[in-house]
Amino acid sequence: MSSLVVGIDLGTTNSCVAVPAQAAVPDKERLIAEGRLRPVGDALVVVPPDGSPTVPSAVWVGPDGDVQVGLLAKHRARMQGAPPAMFFKRSMGTDQRFTAGHAELTPVEASTAVLRHLRAIAEDVLGVPVERAVVTVPAFFETRSKNDTTRAGDAAGLEVVETLIEPVAAALAHGGDQASGAASGADAAHDGPRTLLVYDLGGGTFDTSVVTRDPDEGFEHRAFGGDRYLGGYDFDRAVVSWMNDRLPAYDLAYDPDSPADARSYASLLFLAEGCKQELSRMPVTEIVSQYCEDRNGIPMNLHLPMQRGEFESVVRPHLQAAADHCERTLRQAGLTPADVDEIVMVGGSSRIPLAATLLRERFGREPVLLHPDLAIAAGAALKAAEATERGTYLELDRPEADGEIADISGRVLPGELLPDPAGAAVLLVSDDGVHRVEETAGPNGSFLFPDVPLTPGAENGFTVRLMRDGRAIEARRVTVTAATASAPVTGDVLAHDFSVELAEGLHRIVDSGVRLPHRTGFRLQTATQGSYLSIRLYEGLMHIGSVEIADVPRSLPVGTDVEVSVTFEAGWTIEAEVAIPAIGAAATAVIDIPLRRIPAWDDLRRAHRDAKQAWAELHDGPGPGTPNDSPAADAGPESGRRSADGVTALNRLLGETDALLTEGQDRAKTHYKIMETETLLQGLAQQQMWDRSLDPSPADFETALAEARTLVAELARTDPARAESHRSELVDLEAAARTARADRNRYAWHQACTRLDSLRHGARTDLGGPESARSADSFTADEIAGSLLAELEQLRRSVQEADEDSGRRHRAEADAFTDRIGDAVGDVVQQAAREDDTDTRRRLIGIYKERIEPLHAQIGHWLRGLRQAEGVQVVLPRTTPPGQGN
Ligand SMILES: Nc1ncnc2c1ncn2[C@@H]1O[C@H](COP(=O)(O)OP(=O)(O)OP(=O)(O)O)[C@@H](O)[C@H]1O
Ligand SMILES: [Mg+2]
Repeated sequence: MSSLVVGIDLGTTNSCVAVPAQAAVPDKERLIAEGRLRPVGDALVVVPPDGSPTVPSAVWVGPDGDVQVGLLAKHRARMQGAPPAMFFKRSMGTDQRFTAGHAELTPVEASTAVLRHLRAIAEDVLGVPVERAVVTVPAFFETRSKNDTTRAGDAAGLEVVETLIEPVAAALAHGGDQASGAASGADAAHDGPRTLLVYDLGGGTFDTSVVTRDPDEGFEHRAFGGDRYLGGYDFDRAVVSWMNDRLPAYDLAYDPDSPADARSYASLLFLAEGCKQELSRMPVTEIVSQYCEDRNGIPMNLHLPMQRGEFESVVRPHLQAAADHCERTLRQAGLTPADVDEIVMVGGSSRIPLAATLLRERFGREPVLLHPDLAIAAGAALKAAEATERGTYLELDRPEADGEIADISGRVLPGELLPDPAGAAVLLVSDDGVHRVEETAGPNGSFLFPDVPLTPGAENGFTVRLMRDGRAIEARRVTVTAATASAPVTGDVLAHDFSVELAEGLHRIVDSGVRLPHRTGFRLQTATQGSYLSIRLYEGLMHIGSVEIADVPRSLPVGTDVEVSVTFEAGWTIEAEVAIPAIGAAATAVIDIPLRRIPAWDDLRRAHRDAKQAWAELHDGPGPGTPNDSPAADAGPESGRRSADGVTALNRLLGETDALLTEGQDRAKTHYKIMETETLLQGLAQQQMWDRSLDPSPADFETALAEARTLVAELARTDPARAESHRSELVDLEAAARTARADRNRYAWHQACTRLDSLRHGARTDLGGPESARSADSFTADEIAGSLLAELEQLRRSVQEADEDSGRRHRAEADAFTDRIGDAVGDVVQQAAREDDTDTRRRLIGIYKERIEPLHAQIGHWLRGLRQAEGVQVVLPRTTPPGQGN
């Protein structure tokens, strides 16, 4: 008997399974009439015996190892007081473990249990084997999380033919709905390209996508965004903390490590969820319970009314954030709200009336609420309909017409009657019998009928027969329509940016939203010498792997080309290659993306404290993006805006993390927020470090700039034309300096500063003043001492930073250098205190030549040595700076 491909929505709170409406299900009409299959657009949702088409994503393991899923799991948990595993989808791709009754499960194990359960329900209702599935995942899932979803499918006996992005599933379902006339008349009549904004607010994640649907081209996924950690679960927790505020008589403080607290928290969450759902239907409800106990075992006799308005003020910030994500995603797709033809809402939390209200306010149109709980599974089923057709021995690929011809291909699978498919005879016959060809299966059973002619404008039917001893042991039918391939293009897309780490920070190599498979190649250059080269690859904020060339000759000149290419396969494997052509060295690595390790609460608290500390230190330091930065010291519009965004985001993240730590509920989300914080901090710190290393410093530049402006203003009174020319040069060089600073281009910075110097000089001359640039010997002893001290301080800082960066492994040398710097500082100060200016100047210059200069050279050499031991650093190729050379 042939098996079916199903579509599965593996949700955070609820899961659901569906098949395409045209699937070959025995007794389909009867099952529909009996309510075992529920039509949703062009899909049929499978309804389990309990009558509810959605299955709670809850898993409970009994003392004997028996596994319960869904309502039964929740029920067992309540009876036996051992909570089930829930919300594990949020931690897919991490090493977090979940208590599931009497066992501890990983997110993959818990998901396996749910998938196995759904598979059993589907087989039971459909009466055919179910061996393959399209499983949906949030657009925000990292590659590791997607791969884990596929693993869970494998373990449940389901080959995951595709992990389909949830918003695309929603768009597919919506398209199907319209095609079958279920949507509003006006929309159904429209047959040009349409732009949909999908808003999927579920239990755990918020996804938004911009999808265009063209009747000829199918679907195109244009952009997506959202929050991996925003959904109904957050609203429930917000309601619990609202309740806590109103119940001062009870002790509801929460210790995340106490199982008893976990139980009482779980029952409060349960009450909160019920209350939340009521408030979507009614203006007021009452939270009533006699079963809960507080921490001291005091029974809580709850009668707590909650108004819709109160609930709305609790969730409004979350829903505003969701609407913000929509706006950002539209912008990312290069569209404005006016370009959106429809806003499609799915996910259980879309039922909250405020969600639609905010969208209406923001985008000026009425959103469409699709079957909030079933649409995703229905969309997955439509996608499953495109999967290859498979029988016992014959698997057919879905043919795509190329004009008036098509390739028809597939595989012969080994089985009882045919243990070795190689060389099997396969026959293709068109419905009208005119076209008839025989092919032989290759070594792995695959076969291809190339360039099969099609009749234009009609559906072309063919039968593929697997022959043995002149008889067909299996026959499968396939249809193709000429030219208009109706298969929607909804290929998987990268959920995050991917970057490599260069000497100056992360460098993005692929933008999120790129369709798979994808390959990118680029060139880098070595910036230091060393003994090995390691290219570290990042997905979003996470380091996911490296590719390394060992044994790089230490003599390899700086500036040598390094070639890197990264290939993203459709099945979510990533392969990285690096080569140094000059020495014929190359290496390849298949990136095996690690599980995200989620630290314990104590470690999270510590990491948060460290982040706050680092932030406070950045505050105090000079540089862009710090709150006490004067506008004049800011690097200008570009980097200014970037760092201002960074500051806002940092403050928001630190606040959110504070709240999450206090609440002690969601370790995965807390960890994620801390990672985001650390990455932002790193970016700001890098910018600051760079700014500090600039010579002249940004502050000096600003001072000189202010002086130049004054001079130009003065000049305007006597020579307006000349002043105007200076003014436009000022505007120009100022912009150049800002860009240089933002791009960290030392050369361009230096050039801008030189331009400023000569402008000041020119303006002074124009003003008729005799003052010209000072010659070196016009400096006073105090000025010389000041600059020597500044240089020594700079050296001291470099030594200290290098020591810290190398994990204090070079403590002794660093200390020796620091001592010598200290001695030199002492000498300079002592000399500067003397009366005789000329003599002092001579001595100070002596100190510089004899002490500081050698120190400079030795420290430079030491620093280079440290870097060599750490490996070769790479940078983007430096192009020749404009104006250099001819
Ligand atoms: N009437 C309602 N009002 C408010 N929220 C509701 C309502 N009905 C269901 N929900 C919430 O919807 C959420 C479940 O939605 P859904 O089943 O779409 O999520 P999911 O698919 O499991 O999650 P995700 O898509 O994030 O993985 C739960 O938080 C539930 O409390
Ligand atoms: Mg969902």
